[in-house]
Amino acid sequence: MQLHLCRVDTADEVWLPGLLARLTPEERTRAERFAVAPARLSYAAAHALLHHALDEAIGPGWSMVRGEQGKPALAPPFADLHFNLTHADGLVAVAINREGPIGVDVEAATRAIDVASIGRRVFAAEERGDPLRLWTLKEAVAKATGLGLSLPFNEIVFDGDPPRLARIRDPHGPAARWWVHGETFAGHWLALAAPRGGGAIERVELRVAELAG
Ligand SMILES: CC(C)(COP(=O)(O)OP(=O)(O)OC[C@H]1O[C@@H](n2cnc3c(N)ncnc32)[C@H](O)[C@@H]1OP(=O)(O)O)[C@@H](O)C(=O)NCCC(=O)NCCS
Repeated sequence: MQLHLCRVDTADEVWLPGLLARLTPEERTRAERFAVAPARLSYAAAHALLHHALDEAIGPGWSMVRGEQGKPALAPPFADLHFNLTHADGLVAVAINREGPIGVDVEAATRAIDVASIGRRVFAAEERGDPLRLWTLKEAVAKATGLGLSLPFNEIVFDGDPPRLARIRDPHGPAARWWVHGETFAGHWLALAAPRGGGAIERVELRVAELAG
């Protein structure tokens, strides 16, 4: 499994035209719809990172399809190569897995989670630990299934430290078969999840300037 990472700083705004030049016309249109500059920059960096990672893995000529809940995937003949991406202010990531579906999530560690208001819709009664850490792990699992937020997070249950997937509703189980990985990186919580095992992580870190150049 490969994990491609890119830190994004507001000063990287100068590279936006170069990032946009790497994207498809559809991606450029979506980038232009972001009203907030840091979100637009993160989106453009994440998609430029995706282009870089896929070009490295399979060369040019790939195209995308979307699943029912919007999860992007590669069109044939590359459909066996799975990927997922995530963008937060300050950090974007792309995970690539040849063994099966993959989910990745990053969240700024400073992001406040209002546990009182989201409460039992997200966390099961027995779950302990940093709520944002658990949130990123649950979101990585939900993204690996392709269901995203439509899979109730309180049905993805972690226990232990480091957290291990203890329960997930059918047909996504058994929980014990899942591989999950969580860490802090560059002021963010980062999580990866794969339903059929993950294995060693090959990490690649790139700068925005390299993606735009
Ligand atoms: C996917 C989802 C969890 C994103 O959460 P988020 O924290 O805002 O965003 P992240 O940065 O972590 O991830 C976004 C990326 O996940 C990918 N993604 C989109 N839908 C996905 C899904 N169902 N499963 C996995 N990944 C998905 C996309 O690449 C997306 O980036 P892009 O829009 O720039 O291409 C959330 O939007 C969701 O649940 N969407 C699916 C449900 C839905 O809205 N369905 C409507 C029918 S299309």
